Amino acid sequence: MINYLINNTNHQINFCKLNKISIISKSIEKINSDKNILLIYDEKISKKIIQNLLNELKLTGCKTFSLKIKGDKINKNEKSLFYIINFLIKNKFTKKSVIISCGGGVVGDISALASSLYLRGLIYYNIPTTMTAVVDSCIGGKTGINYKGIINSLGTYYHPRNIFILEEVISTIPVREYTAGIAEIIKCGLIDDKKILTYLIKNKRYILDRNFRQVTEICKLTLKSKIKFFLKDIYENNSRLILNFGHTFAHAIEMATENEINKDFIRHGEAVALGILCEIYYSNKKKNNIFNYAKTIFENFNLETTLNIKKNKFNEVQLIENIYRNIFFDKKKIGHFPRYISLKKLSRPKIEEMKDFDLINETILKVLFN
Ligand SMILES: NC(=O)c1ccc[n+]([C@@H]2O[C@H](COP(=O)([O-])OP(=O)(O)OC[C@H]3O[C@@H](n4cnc5c(N)ncnc54)[C@H](O)[C@@H]3O)[C@@H](O)[C@H]2O)c1
Repeated sequence: MINYLINNTNHQINFCKLNKISIISKSIEKINSDKNILLIYDEKISKKIIQNLLNELKLTGCKTFSLKIKGDKINKNEKSLFYIINFLIKNKFTKKSVIISCGGGVVGDISALASSLYLRGLIYYNIPTTMTAVVDSCIGGKTGINYKGIINSLGTYYHPRNIFILEEVISTIPVREYTAGIAEIIKCGLIDDKKILTYLIKNKRYILDRNFRQVTEICKLTLKSKIKFFLKDIYENNSRLILNFGHTFAHAIEMATENEINKDFIRHGEAVALGILCEIYYSNKKKNNIFNYAKTIFENFNLETTLNIKKNKFNEVQLIENIYRNIFFDKKKIGHFPRYISLKKLSRPKIEEMKDFDLINETILKVLFN
């Protein structure tokens, strides 16, 4: 278990098995709720897990509702948000009701946004179901939807009171959703704690085989690293921005590749892996030892290290132009220039501006389209 305080309120991350006397129902019994619970779940999660969860929640004696929504970034929109909010209004939820999100980063970010907006905030829990959600999006309190083609353009900060990382969920995450999240683990290892990379590499087989003991350990190391950054800077004014390592390029890639024809092209974590390589290249003006080191780790965990568009309907020239243009939508920007995280030495990241437009272009070509 990991405990951390935000505004003197305790927040908890639990690693556990889902069973009859699980700590989920115990935790809900302890809080001062109005005994209404809404489980919002991703439609692709195993039916058995959802049924077990609902059975578990019914043991609390609370009135339990459930709402199935779609994952995938294309559904991270106002339609999904208002679907939830209308349900809360219709069923007369109050500030003392509980929302439990059970899904990946998409369902989690939308559910958390709805939880923060409805009556200015009700009680929010999270059960993350992809590796990206487990090691990254479930904590830190960033909520959001994509609007007008801009990633997370609408959002708030709102923290789950409790997070449950369940063994049954870890063992059923699809391979692609598991692998994509490993990029966020590698990110924390590169910018912060070398121990993360050492543990990851040493226990590669166990982690790829989903052995819960080793998975718990690597998740704890990564989550503690993220907690350290965001507790110092909850509203992301300075030091927390470091956690956006790779994201200036990653978001530009995601926005350029997300469309109706190529709906499922790239996962957030996959884009982060590519974005990290781009930001290492840009900061060193070349492929150097850190670039090759990071690339090898990504390859070891089956993450792509160039933008593989062969099987998809993209116009390559147009795509390069769109990625370049999207870099300038960077949300970290404070002046004219987009900002990114440079990495010239391991564990020594810096927030910097990207002023060399030719180098941005070179980076896109040499890293993504090599
Ligand atoms: N709030 C934050 O701090 C934060 C951090 C990182 C990423 N994010 C956001 O998270 C999103 C990406 O998250 P993601 O990669 O988890 O995407 P996602 O939620 O779309 O999940 C990816 C796919 O896996 C499916 N899925 C989820 N759990 C499953 C399970 N257990 N079994 C079978 N299928 C399952 C989903 O339906 C979807 O098709 C992006 O929108 C990104 O902006 C937010």
